[in-house]
Amino acid sequence: MATKREARILAVVNQKGGVGKTTTAVNLCAYLAQAGKRVLLVDCDPQSNATSGVGLDKAAVTTGLYDVLVENVPFADIIVKDVADIKGFDLAPSTIDLSGAEMVLYTEQNFARESVLARAMKDVRGTYDYIFIDAPPSLGLITINILTASSGLIIPIQCEYYALEGISQLLSVVERIQERLNTALSIDMVVLTMQDYRTNLSQQVISDVRDYFGDKVARTLIPRNVRLSEAPSYGQPISLYDAKSKGAAAYAQLAKEVIEKL
Ligand SMILES: Nc1ncnc2c1ncn2[C@@H]1O[C@H](COP(=O)(O)OP(=O)(O)OP(=O)(O)O)[C@@H](O)[C@H]1O
Ligand SMILES: [Mg+2]
Repeated sequence: MATKREARILAVVNQKGGVGKTTTAVNLCAYLAQAGKRVLLVDCDPQSNATSGVGLDKAAVTTGLYDVLVENVPFADIIVKDVADIKGFDLAPSTIDLSGAEMVLYTEQNFARESVLARAMKDVRGTYDYIFIDAPPSLGLITINILTASSGLIIPIQCEYYALEGISQLLSVVERIQERLNTALSIDMVVLTMQDYRTNLSQQVISDVRDYFGDKVARTLIPRNVRLSEAPSYGQPISLYDAKSKGAAAYAQLAKEVIEKL
């Protein structure tokens, strides 16, 4: 296979909260780096869950995405290398002040405020095989920047009632971005998360999502697994926290699917 010259930028998006965006982004990055890929995880959520999830102390992080988006700090300057003790797994951290970035970007008389992130990331793209962006649960200006900067989207959908609620809203924003700001943007993968084998509900949701998204739905289903929910508080991806868990097996498999398809 030919070596990629520029990273594919994959945004993990869904404006619905708690559907598994950060869990998916962190664990895919870990497995891809462990498979020898050069990976950058960009934490674009003021909650900084990806930042703490790979072991960084949120309170100790001094520069992050806010500084890139608002203070014009070069993207390369905020990158922390080899996080979670995994070689080739780099992180662009977030800090809580990122929540104020949207306000600054809005009020700025900057007609290209939707593409600040895209411009900032240009310089680092050649350094990586994959860049993942962990998006916040909103469709605000930060998410618009993420959609403008990305090559493809990974949409996690939680296997529960109302799983598809809000999806049409997300897709209409994506369409507008494709028309105006980023014609190359594609929906690359839909990942079903927190599947519960014990309930029929999960089966119903899975079949609804497959009807809606067809072959974009990943073959790998992510089960509900308590080890996945424990790992972030130890600042570890599941591959380090409990490599033998069902959750680990699922994300390892999903990483293979990403390498195969994207
Ligand atoms: N497969 C899973 N099994 C069990 N718990 C999970 C699983 N995936 C995620 N969780 C837990 O569910 C919660 C929400 O997951 P996560 O933080 O990844 O979602 P999110 O979409 O990033 O949320 P937010 O919208 O707030 O950023 C977290 O506590 C996480 O540890
Ligand atoms: Mg999150």
